[in-house]
Amino acid sequence: MDPTSTLAALDPDILRGLHGRSLLLTRDWTTPEIDTLLAVASRLEAADRAGRPLDLLRNELGYALFFDNSTRTRSAWAGGCARLGMHPVIVDGSSTQVEHGETATETGAMLGMNAHALGIRHDLILGEGNRFMREVKRGIDDYLAATGDARKVPVVNLQCDVDHPTQTLADLMWLRERFPEGLKGRKIAVSWAYSPSYAKPLSVPQGLAMLLTRFGAHVTLAHPEGYRLMEDTLESARAAARVSGGSFTEASAMDDAFAGADAVYPKSWGPYDLMLERVAANRARDKAKMAEIEARALARNAAHRDWICDERRMALTRGGDALYLHCLPADIGAEVAPAVMERHRVNVAREANKKVHVIMALLAVAKVPDLAHRLEGLAR
Ligand code: CP
Repeated sequence: MDPTSTLAALDPDILRGLHGRSLLLTRDWTTPEIDTLLAVASRLEAADRAGRPLDLLRNELGYALFFDNSTRTRSAWAGGCARLGMHPVIVDGSSTQVEHGETATETGAMLGMNAHALGIRHDLILGEGNRFMREVKRGIDDYLAATGDARKVPVVNLQCDVDHPTQTLADLMWLRERFPEGLKGRKIAVSWAYSPSYAKPLSVPQGLAMLLTRFGAHVTLAHPEGYRLMEDTLESARAAARVSGGSFTEASAMDDAFAGADAVYPKSWGPYDLMLERVAANRARDKAKMAEIEARALARNAAHRDWICDERRMALTRGGDALYLHCLPADIGAEVAPAVMERHRVNVAREANKKVHVIMALLAVAKVPDLAHRLEGLAR
């Protein structure tokens, strides 16, 4: 996509509306807001590749709390903050006083008084991650209002139980690069795949279903029995497809999702009922119970070893050559056959690399008041 044309598409009213905005779920943002965000991300990506300085937020603190492991998102947060001239600081959430019972609103107030933006990953416990982020944001906003502090301190969801917005927006940006005429009419398979490594969160398939249906794509979600997703996210996907002219269908066979697909996104997630069992065990801080639930989840996964993205299934896709996507890390030999992964190794790396520019765009739209003007300066 030509970055100059994306700059021309920036709407000053939409940019004004995004000033100070947090991103907690993509469905909280309108489609024009998402288009504007990605236009900013494309512009930042082009300027970054051209080696232009992008330090729009010099000397600000970009603090991030991770309650789960991360390679890509953590480094994208650090890379995005550093490119903008911010100081990134990333903390293991379990090392904070949240572990000792400090509430999310208290935590928000305490972090918000020092930080200029806050990223959070809290993805393992259904019903908790997104709620935690909203309470942290309330703590920050209440503190700023009570002290007459005019700073904008946006909260960026770096993966919760419901959505993984910086991932799905990076995926959308990558899909648009590969399908420059748009997603309208494209068939995209989002499928469960076998994993022996751990019971993965539900947020990536949920986020993809909610987001890609907004752009006219025909999204087919496939999974074995027992691996359903949160119903409200599926309802959002159905509603989005009705508005966009796309579609959202569910299938019980991976082959049905792959048949005729332009792009495939096969990845694992945990069995729904066991993900729910985790909630009480986590509240009780019962580590033995958590381990026992995890073992049962992996045993359940193992009954579906045939759910793999292999050459036979890729041959079912449009022209036998669909674009393979994965948020990474992929279980090679389980979720995806080694030869398929090898063929798409650079593709998935390029997909992953979009996240740094999505995060930069989120921080820039929320925090730089004269962003359109500043971006024009970057283009020269
Ligand atoms: N895809 C993704 O979010 O990767 P990490 O878990 O490594 O951040």
